[in-house]
Amino acid sequence: MKALILSGGKGTRLRPLTYTGAKQLVPVANKPILWYGIEEIVASGITDIGIIISPETGKEVQAKTGSGEQFGAKITYILQEKPAGLAHAVQVALPFLENSPFLMYLGDNLIQQGDLSYFLKKFTNQQQDALILLRPVPNPSAFGVAKVDETGRVLELIEKPQVPPSNLALVGVYFFSHVIHDAITCIKPSARGELEITDAIQNLIDNQKQVVACQLEGWWLDTGKKDDLLEANRLILDTYLKTSILGEVDAQSHIIGRVKIGSQSQVINCTIRGPVIIGNNCHLEHCFIGPYSSIADNATVIDTDLEHSVLLEGAKIIGIHQRIIDSVIGQRAQLIVAPRRPKALRFLIGDDCQIELT
Ligand code: TTP
Repeated sequence: MKALILSGGKGTRLRPLTYTGAKQLVPVANKPILWYGIEEIVASGITDIGIIISPETGKEVQAKTGSGEQFGAKITYILQEKPAGLAHAVQVALPFLENSPFLMYLGDNLIQQGDLSYFLKKFTNQQQDALILLRPVPNPSAFGVAKVDETGRVLELIEKPQVPPSNLALVGVYFFSHVIHDAITCIKPSARGELEITDAIQNLIDNQKQVVACQLEGWWLDTGKKDDLLEANRLILDTYLKTSILGEVDAQSHIIGRVKIGSQSQVINCTIRGPVIIGNNCHLEHCFIGPYSSIADNATVIDTDLEHSVLLEGAKIIGIHQRIIDSVIGQRAQLIVAPRRPKALRFLIGDDCQIELT
């Protein structure tokens, strides 16, 4: 059994962060989203992993994630020249996958730990051609949606239907036997110009192959948008964070609840109410850091209240005497108060940024 993680794509929904980096490397609780997937796959017992990368962000993904040794896996990087669809990525990966059954995992998705092993066992024991995971969602029109009979057999898949046949969305985790490759050769690009994996699975169904669906009970998040990213950050901090204080905390500071502070970080006269994670070499002074905040390495936060937010590496927030909530601040971005007159707001804002002022 092999695994194929899709870490190419355009990442348009997470701009501007994805102008300068891969969306799969955006951190959740200070760890790249992609790494959660790799760890989960290795925990399920699969160690031969192929990762689809794009020409734009592939080098960065490869440099950060490495040979797989740190995860106890062997990683093969596979370049997809264009983001021509999920089924196209499988096609490109054929020399790696060969005839092996495989798990396909979307690199910007997060699922609850421990769920993968259960479904992998089910797939291998029952020798199906495809096992897909479904989850009820309130807005099925935004997803690939499945129509399933009472035995769990999939009857039909529809990509982003206007009138959804059910509320069961396809989660970004699939198990396939080698027959998926034949199905992919039979499909044509969709209206948006992509080779859709839903069309390939529909082709399996139409050819009476064994396509079975299981419902995922645990949580699942597609971190493609800002609010999903914040929600993923909240869930991971809530579920897994353990207290560990390596940096320096002065006597005036109050640390409440589960808080992790990395080495060489300084916390001066702050109140930090967990769950909160602070990376290495950060400087925090006269701050309130509220629950569900993740602050990456080398960040500076001074005279600021922050809550339910994610700061990327090297971000700086200084002297903002208002509470900042529900925010994602990019790498090396600065949010500061200008000392000069005239009293006015001054900006240097990159493309596709979003600023909400009160
Ligand atoms: P999506 O989030 O559906 O697509 P995208 O990355 O182009 O993002 P956006 O809609 O914001 O523009 O892709 C799901 C995952 O699959 C994601 O990790 C990127 C990856 N992917 C590929 O590796 N190759 C592809 O051709 C496509 C479409 C996606």
